[in-house]
Amino acid sequence: MSILLTGGLGYIGSHTAVALCKSGHQVVIYDDLSNSKVEVVKSIEKLTGIKIIFVKGSILDFDTFQTVLRDNNVDTVIHFAGLKAVADSVIYPIDYYEVNVGGAINVIKAMKEEQIKKFIFSSSATVYGTPIFLPINENHRKKAINPYGQTKLQIESILEDLARSDSSWRIACLRYFNPVGSHSSCLIGENPIDIPNNLMPRIVRVASGLEKELLVFGDDYPTADGTCERDYVHVEDLADGHLAALNNLGKQEQPLECFNLGTGQSCSVLELISAFENVTDLKVPKAISNRRSGDAATCYADVKKSREILNWEAKKSINEMCLSSWEYQNFIINKRLL
Ligand SMILES: NC(=O)c1ccc[n+]([C@@H]2O[C@H](COP(=O)([O-])OP(=O)(O)OC[C@H]3O[C@@H](n4cnc5c(N)ncnc54)[C@H](O)[C@@H]3O)[C@@H](O)[C@H]2O)c1
Repeated sequence: MSILLTGGLGYIGSHTAVALCKSGHQVVIYDDLSNSKVEVVKSIEKLTGIKIIFVKGSILDFDTFQTVLRDNNVDTVIHFAGLKAVADSVIYPIDYYEVNVGGAINVIKAMKEEQIKKFIFSSSATVYGTPIFLPINENHRKKAINPYGQTKLQIESILEDLARSDSSWRIACLRYFNPVGSHSSCLIGENPIDIPNNLMPRIVRVASGLEKELLVFGDDYPTADGTCERDYVHVEDLADGHLAALNNLGKQEQPLECFNLGTGQSCSVLELISAFENVTDLKVPKAISNRRSGDAATCYADVKKSREILNWEAKKSINEMCLSSWEYQNFIINKRLL
């Protein structure tokens, strides 16, 4: 039996593919390459010594996706594919609903037709909206504050209705906090087609001279140093979280469970910059600008449920996250220069 990863050549999917291969699973990747490169297939194979099956296709193409499910003896689908830039989702909401919600419906419908009922969904801490208590546990009220978060919320609702309608499904919604870092080999990492808007990729771009300075959006939040605090989690830990969720699906009593994947620790913008400067011995020029609308002051996970039920815990430190992000950036720059 194999595990199919939609969007498996992307940032989190590729690290999860490596973790799955290394623990003996047969991996099938279905990706339209809209935000990844086909060379990632070779990198995954090089890292694991295992051949994977890759099919280029969109989750919006129902027939092709169903054929891939049917032809590859798929047992479980891990659904990463989707659009993920919050700011873009405000400008192009219909694209986000089409790809994220429409795409997820296609994936689930094709699975239903093929009698495949094990599903792991890449959800996000954005489903909680502005926190009303901290740390955020899985029972925190859900309230999306942008179209991207709304798509994740809608998919979770669809999955809840599906689980209610047929209790033989086994579904895990994994709510990621702030994934950063890259694989220790530097062969895979966050390498999007467009310029990313998250903090760590922007720090790395400034440190490598691609941008002049880092804009810190607001230093007057009610936090220790006035800047926003987030729960950064290393992508290799996150990949292991998928493995843990997969192992748990077989024994999961309820048809659907949600799990926070974070470290349970908060780190401010200034703390992250300072950790980055310390481990790399570089300076990151920065300037304070106005707050961005929609940014919560502090957001971090309660990871008790993941620890107790999945037996999973993030292990890597902020320093390791900074170092691996920087090493990967150097690797990419050197590769381009060769
Ligand atoms: N990275 C984060 O900060 C973060 C945080 C929370 C949740 N998530 C969610 O995790 C998932 C993976 O995120 P990521 O950071 O790896 O993103 P990514 O963009 O690196 O990976 C997504 C992959 O999906 C592919 N894809 C996009 N649209 C597709 C389509 N229509 N058909 C087939 N493939 C398609 C892309 O080519 C890419 O390889 C996404 O659903 C994202 O919303 C990410």
